[in-house]
Amino acid sequence: MSHLTRRTFLKNTLLGGAGLVVLPGLLRTPARGALSPNRRIQIAQIGCGRMGTSDMEGILAHPLARVVAVCDLDARRLGIAQAKVVKFYSQQGETNVEVKAYHDYQEIFARPDIDAVVVSTPDHWHALVAVQAALAGKHLYVQKPITYGIHESIALRTAVRAKKVILQTGSQQRSEKPFRAFRPASELVRNGRLGKLRAIRIGVGLDKPSGKKPAPMPVPVSFDYDRWLGPVAEQPYMEGRVHPQNSIGGRPGWITTEDFGLGMITNWGAHHLDIAQWAMGQELGGPTTINAQANFMQEDQWTVHHNYHIEMMYAHGVQVILDDKFENGLHFEGDRGWIFCARGAEKVTASDPNVAAGRSPYRASDEKLLAPLEPGETRWMPSPNHYLNWLESIVAHRDPIAPVDQSVKSVQTCCAAWIGMKLGRPLTWDAAAESFTGDDAANALRGRPARRPEFDLNLVMRNAGLA
Ligand SMILES: NC(=O)c1ccc[n+]([C@@H]2O[C@H](COP(=O)([O-])OP(=O)(O)OC[C@H]3O[C@@H](n4cnc5c(N)ncnc54)[C@H](O)[C@@H]3O)[C@@H](O)[C@H]2O)c1
Repeated sequence: MSHLTRRTFLKNTLLGGAGLVVLPGLLRTPARGALSPNRRIQIAQIGCGRMGTSDMEGILAHPLARVVAVCDLDARRLGIAQAKVVKFYSQQGETNVEVKAYHDYQEIFARPDIDAVVVSTPDHWHALVAVQAALAGKHLYVQKPITYGIHESIALRTAVRAKKVILQTGSQQRSEKPFRAFRPASELVRNGRLGKLRAIRIGVGLDKPSGKKPAPMPVPVSFDYDRWLGPVAEQPYMEGRVHPQNSIGGRPGWITTEDFGLGMITNWGAHHLDIAQWAMGQELGGPTTINAQANFMQEDQWTVHHNYHIEMMYAHGVQVILDDKFENGLHFEGDRGWIFCARGAEKVTASDPNVAAGRSPYRASDEKLLAPLEPGETRWMPSPNHYLNWLESIVAHRDPIAPVDQSVKSVQTCCAAWIGMKLGRPLTWDAAAESFTGDDAANALRGRPARRPEFDLNLVMRNAGLA
């Protein structure tokens, strides 16, 4: 069935004459109670910052969804998000629009009328929020990287599969918009267009030190910094390590502070290594060896890695190389030539010199390599829109285009590479066992202790009987 016919089919099946959604019985899990047959998928947005705002707007655009709650620890951001949703539905002619604003996401999970949540918090919070949401029976859209660390990724997969909720990762490069090059390039590679695949060179950009020394500041009155730290070790507040107080769209400083996010290796690595593993049929695998070198920022308010060079071998003989000097994107190299795909001419960071402005984000050593697939060749699940693919997957109760098992493997590869950079020596990774072979120091970096029991993911899993 073509994707258009399939979508029409879904619409015709799920939308009644009055445009109301009839959710199939599969979704009526006891955790959520019976769903009324004539309402949309009720959604809460958790984390209303730079990406959360964009996610919420992406969800609002789809009549299958109804945003009914927002949640943030920064009261200013929370108020703005709530007002945005009210304005959106009011502009559609509704009066008395109800959108509740929450500080504590647990109150959202306790609401039986909420079916699904979008998790757009910083990376260090993903696992805890998402696992508890899954345990409450909520479907999930979780921003990439799906978790901060390796142990967390295993816990989230366990909870999602145990509770049979549908999880889409925010790996939007797997869908057709807004970036058009990744799907066709990875499909061609997967179908052997390059002959024997030899190497994939990946550019994920480069973070540079801020040039500012760490300097503790008073916590803004409208912000719950203690809770924002969550599982991470106690440390003084610095706006430059959290998020800007004067804007929502600004790049947050947590993304370059290693306690909260591991740097470009999981930031853009979660996108590009995900596409690399998908293209070479390793979406449930990973590298066997990792050899990495990197500099980490020092005496700066930021702490993530700076320059890096990483080489990873896969069991089927493909080498994956990441280097801060590579153009942002993926360069697939095989016996018959090469194919390159990227997002285009947009900058990765304001200071990134590696973006070749104006060059096609989809090109090959020979144009003929980009000829469309033949009938019968492997194709990805149609997904014109990443949010819609999630919503339709909830309705159909199927795995979406970026399913939990594959995203877990993508983030594990990123984290294993980060551990390689931290230790600066060759490592042997066993993707099936999800551990390093004979290396206690490397294995110890797969997780970290929680600051307080209330933020302890292991405890959550144990209490749920899942660990
Ligand atoms: N898919 C993409 O292309 C893409 C692009 C940018 C960012 N991201 C990802 O999106 C996520 C958010 O990034 P961002 O740039 O929007 O960060 P941000 O700092 O701008 O926003 C995060 C928000 O979450 C809130 N928050 C933190 N902990 C919370 C909690 N426990 N409960 C409720 N709210 C909480 C913060 O107060 C903040 O407002 C990250 O995981 C990031 O890696 C994805």
